[in-house]
Amino acid sequence: MNIILCKDYEAMSAIAADIIAKQVKSNKTSVLGLPTGSTPIGTYTKLAEMCNAGEIDFSSVKTFNLDEYYPIKRDNDQSYYYFMYKNFFSKINIKPENVHVPNGEVEDAEKECKEYEEAIAAAGGIDLQMLGIGQNGHIGFNEPDSELYPFTHKTSLTENTILANARFFESASDVPTNALTMGMASILSAKKIIILINGANKKEATKALLKGTVTTSCPATLLNLHPDVTLICTEDAYCE
Ligand code: F6R
Repeated sequence: MNIILCKDYEAMSAIAADIIAKQVKSNKTSVLGLPTGSTPIGTYTKLAEMCNAGEIDFSSVKTFNLDEYYPIKRDNDQSYYYFMYKNFFSKINIKPENVHVPNGEVEDAEKECKEYEEAIAAAGGIDLQMLGIGQNGHIGFNEPDSELYPFTHKTSLTENTILANARFFESASDVPTNALTMGMASILSAKKIIILINGANKKEATKALLKGTVTTSCPATLLNLHPDVTLICTEDAYCE
C-alpha cells in the first residue's frame, strides 16, 4: 500500500483532488467511484474549483456512488443522492445521466443492486475508487461481520454506524436501519483505489488497515488484497 501522510485535512483534500484531477485529465471518459461522509467534502470542493477554473472537465466522466440509505427518498436532505448533488454534482459540469447512486426509493432492492452491478460493468468498470473509512473499519456500508456479501447488496447498519451517523439526523432513531452498498468485490474490482483517513478518532481503523492482514471483522483490511491502493492520511489519524 502506498502511504501519503498529510499535515491536516486541507492537505489531504488537496492531494486527493490532485490524484482525481490527474485521472480525469489523462482519460476524459474516466469512471469514478465516490463516497459520501465528512471526509471527502474538502476534495469535492477543490475539484469543483478546478472544474470552474477550466482545469478539468467532467462532461464525459461517469460516477458510481458507494452506497445509499434504504429506504430513503432522493429529495430527503439526508440521502446520499442529495448529499452528492449538494456537495459536488451541482458544482461541476457532469451530466445527470452519467451519475449513479444506488436508488433508495425502489421497492425491489435486490433488482436495484443487480442492475447497479450491471451498470458498473457496462461502463467498463471503475477506473479510480475513492473511499473513506468508518471508525469500526467499515467501507461503504460493508460492516464488520463473520461473512461479507461481495457484490452490491442490501444490508442492515450496525449500532456503531447508526450512532456515528446520528449527528446528521434529529436523533439516532431517525437514522435508516438499512442501506444499499457496493460490496467489497465490487470495490476491489476498481483499477486504482485511494482511501482518505482524517482525524484521531480513525487511528484504530488506520492501525487495522496497516497491519497488512485480512479479516471480514474489519472490511477495510480487504484492501490489502488490491495491488494499487494509496492511503492519504492526516498525521493525527496515522497509526502503525
Ligand atoms: C459513505 C461511506 C462510509 C464513510 C465512512 C466515513 O459513502 O462509504 O463508509 O466513508 O462512514 O465517514 P466520514 O467521512 O463521515 O467519517
